[in-house]
Amino acid sequence: MSKLSTKHLLGIKNITPEDIQLIFQTADNFKEVINRPIKKVPSLRDVTIANIFFENSTRTKLSFELAEKRLSADVVNFSASSSSVKKGETLVDTVNNILAMKVDMVVMRHPNPGAHVHLARHVDCSIVNAGDGAHEHPTQALLDAYSLREKLGELKGKKVLIVGDILHSRVALSNIFCLQKLGAEVAVCGPATLIPRHLASLGVKVLLDLKEALRWADVANMLRIQLERQDIEYFPSLREYSMQYGLTRALLEEVGKKDLVIMHPGPINRGVEITSDLADSEYSIILNQVENGVAIRMAVLYLLAGQAKTA
Ligand code: CP
Repeated sequence: MSKLSTKHLLGIKNITPEDIQLIFQTADNFKEVINRPIKKVPSLRDVTIANIFFENSTRTKLSFELAEKRLSADVVNFSASSSSVKKGETLVDTVNNILAMKVDMVVMRHPNPGAHVHLARHVDCSIVNAGDGAHEHPTQALLDAYSLREKLGELKGKKVLIVGDILHSRVALSNIFCLQKLGAEVAVCGPATLIPRHLASLGVKVLLDLKEALRWADVANMLRIQLERQDIEYFPSLREYSMQYGLTRALLEEVGKKDLVIMHPGPINRGVEITSDLADSEYSIILNQVENGVAIRMAVLYLLAGQAKTA
């Protein structure tokens, strides 16, 4: 079996293009499995995985849990809001106590950027990052790129536009790393206040005008405005944001983009970053992204479990 270059999936920044291709090839096999009448394989029988979520989630949490169950792993779910973290227990103590119950692997979402790197230095198991603050969301980027590859073929030379709240988005950063490693060109578009200054140094095109940006793009990935992470007002009102950066059918017609691929990581604010009819339209691959998330997470867990056995 081919191997990943890493014991953990902490981010896309530190994995190789070969790792990404291996995850995609493995996900191709699992996608076939989950479309069978019997969707389960015994690959992770006797492996126990803890899903530790310190932040809310619908898609990522359910998708990991389904991926684990379809691989026949044993699964325990931990929600920080009802745990002894509330009594002051540290992250490392919490996870070491979970591991003492013979848990083999941890999937974690945490609000602090870098929490997973800290944890990986202090505990003895594979860690999968399910989102760390505004830093990285590696499995989201993998499922996004996988869904695009399914729609457009190889991504080399494809032009992918990421629109919206780049500053607070872990999806944006992981997507930038992943798409660039696969040879795509990446641009971001949004209010200047929501685009971090360092982005241009990553080789990303920065565009402030949505019409110009859409004319350039093959793909538009529409991000949610993350009001819960915003401590100041970055634009005058959601209505004004929507008028300048919201994607509508009329706008697509005006810029003449009949074959644009529209993505969204969810959750969608319908009527803010994208109109409801466009989110559900023939342009959209949003539900394909969600479907592919299970196969991608099966691939990641399967490959990391294989690393642990041979380590
Ligand atoms: N895309 C994503 O991470 O969604 P959730 O926050 O619902 O997991």
